[in-house]
Amino acid sequence: MLKDKRILLVIGGGIAAYKSLELIRRLRERGARVRTILTRAGQEFITPLSVGAIAGEKPYIELFDLQAEFDIGHIRLARDTDIVVVAPATADLMAKMAGGHADDLASTVLLATDKPVLIAPAMNPHMWSQAATRRNRTQLEADGIAFIGPSAGEMAESGEAGIGRMAEPLDIVAAIETALARPHAGLPLSGRRILVTSGPTHEPIDPVRYIANRSSGKQGHAIAAAAARAGADVTLVSGPTSLPDPAGLKTIKVSTAREMLAAVEKALPVDAAIFAAAVADWGVAAPGAQKMKKGAAGAPSLSLSLVENPDILATIAKRRAGRPRLVVGFAAETEKVIEHARDKLTRKGCDWIVANDVSPGTGVMGGDRNSVHLITAKGVESWPVQSKDEVAQALIARIASALAGVAT
Ligand code: C5P
Repeated sequence: MLKDKRILLVIGGGIAAYKSLELIRRLRERGARVRTILTRAGQEFITPLSVGAIAGEKPYIELFDLQAEFDIGHIRLARDTDIVVVAPATADLMAKMAGGHADDLASTVLLATDKPVLIAPAMNPHMWSQAATRRNRTQLEADGIAFIGPSAGEMAESGEAGIGRMAEPLDIVAAIETALARPHAGLPLSGRRILVTSGPTHEPIDPVRYIANRSSGKQGHAIAAAAARAGADVTLVSGPTSLPDPAGLKTIKVSTAREMLAAVEKALPVDAAIFAAAVADWGVAAPGAQKMKKGAAGAPSLSLSLVENPDILATIAKRRAGRPRLVVGFAAETEKVIEHARDKLTRKGCDWIVANDVSPGTGVMGGDRNSVHLITAKGVESWPVQSKDEVAQALIARIASALAGVAT
């Protein structure tokens, strides 16, 4: 499937650059045409001569190389390809990409390309886990950049162990094949079906009163909109909110938790389901058919009998047949945020939990900004405080990578 594919490989400066030579060989063995850009730092690790000999054509090196400009301008270099692959992608290259820099040939081409980009990071484990690199990764994923690796293991240069090793050449080849096979590559969720729940639920007490919570639906609606922008076929099942229906997707409005579960079940099958709704845990056992009257019971107090609502997330996550490939829950907590969220991941049987601190001081409930932790079987990632739209975009990018099998 790589036969006659055009691959532009950017080789950054890292000890893992020696593996890029093997990557070029593997790609050419499969019939791909490989053009290369060797960064200045990359040349400290491997030579233009060895890259050129293995690729069968001279690597591009300088942004303002008149002879190369005569041959092919950097804009054409960026576009005249089926995919751009960065291996190794250093922390510095990632930072440049995330910041939109264009001060050398590699970063300029990465900014100018209109083709899918796959990067294989390689760096010291501390550099990979630094807040700055984590921020850049989240940004790049939100920008639609696919990642392969890094993996855990011993570092070639220091003997230190941790996450930071570049993925093996054959794994990068497989990731390139996956990225190229994606239908309508360019829109990361094209051809995918995504279900999102959002908003509160209203549990009736009588025809005019209900039990509700302070959820505004902003985060769930932002996720549904981001999924639609990413090309997915989206169903949003929303409790009562004051938000407009997002464009480009199907919104189903419900009121109670039971109605929400029924609408969710009807929307299946989907590739991924994201449960961002703040579902009421209890509903009123026997809502009054008529408006309840003050003093009707002859006493100045009233007791409501509540019954537990179905847990929509757990019901879907534990389905045997027709379970979405990826089930994502939310956990709004006011204390021990990560601990409680981890517990929820196991208890509810979902794949990921997005945990947020909704203590009164944070302004998250109803506000426009959010500070979340992504909890998966692999561990916890704490994302920077950002707008709910940015959280949505980053989450959707991550989901797209996971569904494409290229992630993380
Ligand atoms: O247990 P807790 O309500 O904190 O769990 C939050 C997660 O579970 C959210 O993803 C929420 O949408 C989901 N949930 C649900 N049905 C319920 C309660 C919670 O889907 N009845």
